[in-house]
Amino acid sequence: MTADPTLAWDDGAIVTVDQTALPHRRNVLRITTVDELIDAIARLAIRGAPALGIAGALGVALSAYRHGSAYRHGADEPVRRDAARLAAARPTAVNLAWGVDRALSRLAEGADAVLAEATALAEEDERVNRAASSRAADLLRELCPRPRLRILTHCHTGRLATGGVGTALGAVHHLAGQGQVEMVFATETRPLLQGARLTVWELRDAAIPHRLLVDSAAASALAAGLVDCVVVGADRIAANGDVANKIGTYPLAVVAARHRVPFVVIAPESTIDEATPCGAAISIEQRPGDEVTSIAGVDTTCAGTEVFNPAFDVTPRDLVTAIVTEDRLWYPADPGTGDLADRIDRLATVVEDFPRPGVRFRDLAGVYAQPATLGAAAHALAAAYRDAFSHVVAVEARGFMVGTAVALATGKPLVLVRKAGKLPGPLRSVKYDLEYGEDVLEMQESAVPPDGRALIVDDVLATGGTLAAVAKLVTESGAAVAGFGVLLELAGLGGVRRLHPHRVVALQTDRS
Ligand code: MRU
Repeated sequence: MTADPTLAWDDGAIVTVDQTALPHRRNVLRITTVDELIDAIARLAIRGAPALGIAGALGVALSAYRHGSAYRHGADEPVRRDAARLAAARPTAVNLAWGVDRALSRLAEGADAVLAEATALAEEDERVNRAASSRAADLLRELCPRPRLRILTHCHTGRLATGGVGTALGAVHHLAGQGQVEMVFATETRPLLQGARLTVWELRDAAIPHRLLVDSAAASALAAGLVDCVVVGADRIAANGDVANKIGTYPLAVVAARHRVPFVVIAPESTIDEATPCGAAISIEQRPGDEVTSIAGVDTTCAGTEVFNPAFDVTPRDLVTAIVTEDRLWYPADPGTGDLADRIDRLATVVEDFPRPGVRFRDLAGVYAQPATLGAAAHALAAAYRDAFSHVVAVEARGFMVGTAVALATGKPLVLVRKAGKLPGPLRSVKYDLEYGEDVLEMQESAVPPDGRALIVDDVLATGGTLAAVAKLVTESGAAVAGFGVLLELAGLGGVRRLHPHRVVALQTDRS
């Protein structure tokens, strides 16, 4: 593979490799007009959301130079018209319009400034890719505690789809660089075969072990236990965490959830579209029928057959284990909003000055009085962590109800952490600070084995002192903390900060 940048500016032209001809032919395109660029984008010679962002920005530069004289007199309309046509060339990947807008923001300063913005955006994407893929690699190692991972990916999210190492494929490269990839399963990605043509080409070049499978074989690979995690990119992520990506992503997420395999989306922040509230509001590109009725120019069906050919689908956020960007780790399925949170909110009562004056006691008796809500809460906590824990560790006293429910929902062993003197030995114990004085918690020594991963649960997270002490008991056993799960978090008391860097899932957050 050559190391050319995905898209380069060369003396008034955009230079790129035609992605439709790969892997067999390396056709270099020299694009000098906005019409040529729109054509290259529409026929997927340039594709992949971040690459579209760079192309859109460079396209505005192309137009700005071309309309130079008129534009110098303040008549920037032709450039704006070109920009609007470019942004509409493919409707789903938000990065295209984002790149166009960023370049347009410098239009008043002249064509050189527009080009400088486009070039900066391309360089930024390289850094963004590295940050997101290294964060994603850390997460995957945490979610899949195997020395070498078996990763399934869909479509192509590598170098040519971005301005750098790639997003989902960037994480694969990162892990492979540390000898932590056993196998990559690359789906073919019908109808245009981005997986078979581009992902396989890139994996082969990097000498990363891989196997190609038809899209419909992915469920079998997951069912057979051959896959530790599914990683994909995204074309647009709605404000609520619903993810639009290449057609076939949604069924992969459904099957991953069925088999409790983490499903991780890796994308730049620029793919998150705060203006689109949810997946239903994302415009899905419909592609020409001949992409489906033929393969490599050979007709595969009866002449005149009608076709349904959406280029993308939407994966609802509750099927997404995590979204990883250059800036953050986002768990969109965390049930901190929605029906269950509302139910907990309604059922929890506040008792002022209990058990001491000045204390606002949160009484969750109403939740325990509704086994269906407690059961839903347990399933929600379990789902948020998929299978990434081996033991449920519950802390005295009200954590026991939550712990029992999560253990029943998952079939995972329940471990009790109690106040001093309640458990028979041998024991581990830890002292921790209370508001007034200190206390001791104890856990049986062999309760969580050294290779265990504990999900630590309680009813309410306040200052985090108790849960931090439980985490200490777990780590002193040599085991790992998968994270914390609580029904209610009292946000003002800093518990989440105290438990950092561990993940905390709270089903409801009280911000009062
Ligand atoms: O139609 P395509 O090939 O442009 O679709 C591309 C995808 O769906 C990718 O997964 C997405 O753009 C992310 S690329 C880093």
